[in-house]
Amino acid sequence: MSLSQGSFEAVVGMFERVSGIRLVAAKKPLVEGRLQRLAQQAGHARLDDYVHQLMQAASPEELTRVIDKLTTNETYFFREPQHFDHLKAQLPELMRGPGSTGGTLRLWSAASSSGEEAYSLAMLLDEELGASARWEIAATDLSTAMVRHGRRALYPMERARNLSPARLKRHCLRGTGEYEGQVLVQRQLRERVRFDSANLMRDLPRTLGSFDVIFLRNVLIYFDPPAKAAIVRRVLGQLKPDGLLYTGHAESLSNLDLPVRAVATAVYAHAA
Ligand SMILES: C[S@@+](CC[C@H](N)C(=O)[O-])C[C@H]1O[C@@H](n2cnc3c(N)ncnc32)[C@H](O)[C@@H]1O
Repeated sequence: MSLSQGSFEAVVGMFERVSGIRLVAAKKPLVEGRLQRLAQQAGHARLDDYVHQLMQAASPEELTRVIDKLTTNETYFFREPQHFDHLKAQLPELMRGPGSTGGTLRLWSAASSSGEEAYSLAMLLDEELGASARWEIAATDLSTAMVRHGRRALYPMERARNLSPARLKRHCLRGTGEYEGQVLVQRQLRERVRFDSANLMRDLPRTLGSFDVIFLRNVLIYFDPPAKAAIVRRVLGQLKPDGLLYTGHAESLSNLDLPVRAVATAVYAHAA
């Protein structure tokens, strides 16, 4: 099934209004591929008819399904492992802040996709600080399907390729029977991570609070420089004065005129 140029542009406009991401012309085949199943499920033999109906009278649920399909959610446990090594080295210093005042160390995975990044952070904190220490993790994503996946915490073995056997044993249950080939994150880690939907292009939920560490990785890459800068400013508003912001290794913040200083590769703090 193919899309006319007009229908493609209508989808691009709708997706940009909701997510802030502008899909370039080269993404047309990808959009066609991803919308095909939804069109069939909605009873349309032609993609153009489906898009026409979407634009005229889509329910909020149908629009959510389209947004979920069009976002790129690739992720895996301990992706870009240097960041986890860096954070591990910073933990004693970070704990001197909240730890010494009896507060809670708070981390945020700000484009969490299906949750592997948030659970990797939880594994690291469990190993380094222990289960009785006061820490918690917030995980948010635009895609409600990804938020549900994160809450479920069930993953194909393939996503756990960076987990050592010791980590797998300590933090995950291996599926058997119908769950063969999958891993479930242990309950005590699941209870430390709270998943919610949030759009980084809009006002953030009031209940989010402020964080010692924010992982904003592999999401800025989809935005143009003004949108990138707006997202980072919004996210910085949630970072405590001595907090750390991690971006993807391909996502430099230089040339964006932001009030940050680099403290390591793709790790930032508030400008002094
Ligand atoms: C490639 S994943 C990154 C996952 C993880 N941070 C990592 O580095 O592996 C990008 C995620 O950004 C989310 N996303 C895209 N636009 C967003 C927006 N405007 N607000 C919040 N999340 C967004 C997508 O739904 C997707 O799950």
